Amino acid sequence: MAIGEAGPGSVRHGAQPKRLEETMRARLGRECVYVPSCRFGLYVALRHWCPPGGRVLMSPVNDDVIFFVVLAAGLRPVQAPLNPLDASIDVDAVPDEVWGSVSAVLTTNLYGNPDPAPRLRQKCDTLGIPLFEDGAHAIGSRVGDRPVGAWGEASVFSLSKHVGAKAGGMLSLADPGLREAVEKTCAGLLAPRRTSAELAYLVRPYAEAAVRGLRLRRAAWAAIRLLGLADREEIRMPLRPDELALAARETPGLDAHHPWVRVDMHDYRLEAGRLRLRRIGRGLDRLDDVLDACRAGTELLLATPWAKPRDTYGTQPLFRVPLFVADRDAVVAALARQGIVVGYLYDPPLDDYAGAEFTDPSPAPEAARWFARHALPVDPLRARAAAEVLERSGARPVRAPGEEELPRSRPTPGGLEQSRD
Ligand SMILES: Cc1ncc(COP(=O)(O)O)c(C=O)c1O
Repeated sequence: MAIGEAGPGSVRHGAQPKRLEETMRARLGRECVYVPSCRFGLYVALRHWCPPGGRVLMSPVNDDVIFFVVLAAGLRPVQAPLNPLDASIDVDAVPDEVWGSVSAVLTTNLYGNPDPAPRLRQKCDTLGIPLFEDGAHAIGSRVGDRPVGAWGEASVFSLSKHVGAKAGGMLSLADPGLREAVEKTCAGLLAPRRTSAELAYLVRPYAEAAVRGLRLRRAAWAAIRLLGLADREEIRMPLRPDELALAARETPGLDAHHPWVRVDMHDYRLEAGRLRLRRIGRGLDRLDDVLDACRAGTELLLATPWAKPRDTYGTQPLFRVPLFVADRDAVVAALARQGIVVGYLYDPPLDDYAGAEFTDPSPAPEAARWFARHALPVDPLRARAAAEVLERSGARPVRAPGEEELPRSRPTPGGLEQSRD
């Protein structure tokens, strides 16, 4: 289906996007199209496969931006019941009438822990609906014999995360024959490259590093706010329901939903310049080393008393390792005092955040609420330092719904003494 949303962008030329696409194609074994962000790729995929008015089964423990992308595509988010230990979709807890009502399924693979793609694939095949995979957190994760992102009609990746480029994304396609149509759609939605945006992108890491070096975090945040780059003071961005309802009444599209879809990344639809692409390429070239380090940190953190390992699909090189603590705010503050900033918190779940006006609520919301309240996503690249802070601050593990007993004391690889509740 073509998208009737003409943008000012142009068809991309040049060897650089091609090189990025080839690297990702080799990893996934599927056709890949470079996009300026994961959210942009998801929007393109949804508009291709789902006519406006459709309903998308998704996870309520997810970044706000994904919710707004679904709305921008003219679709109704339908929140799924989740497994409490990894926030994956609980396939068996989705009622039959919900299965019968949805026109697509979108996985999240939260923090890199895979959703049950083989079962969801089967379910979608039976129902004759598309499966989309958000692999933003899961670029190195595998399910069964395939990587995350090789199960759905389309899958999307964010090169801001493991790759660390703070820009760029990939849209991968099961059917390589769709490449040309998808590229054309992308070209129609891209905003033209701007020198000022390219310069801001290029200098930002140096400015952030300098400010960090001076321990001027407050000043840095004040500067970032002044530049209009900070969209949230709390975990969730302000919903602004009246304006959102007005946007929903317009023709679906990125323009009407721009104030929401741009959250945390104002360049999300900007055509990339040469230097930006070069930096992203350098990050992608280092990806395997990063994934090795993430896997090592994941193993360390999964051996601590705050972890609830699920080895359904083996140990993954997680983007963040969800630990579970009784008083998360206190632990977040203790980590911040040691310079470890916890991001990627998704609390409350999207149905509690947005309400029934904008989404179908989950029929079984408790596991998602529990996960959203207690999960502490720890960067595995800072595993040892974070585990030491948790130990010193006396962070208490917490029991999951349905869990009989808290895990027994286990020594961590760092030799930390662990306490029980
Ligand atoms: C689960 C998830 N998917 C998608 C995105 C969007 O990625 P991008 O910023 O590349 O658009 C994010 C952003 O943090 C995310 O957390």
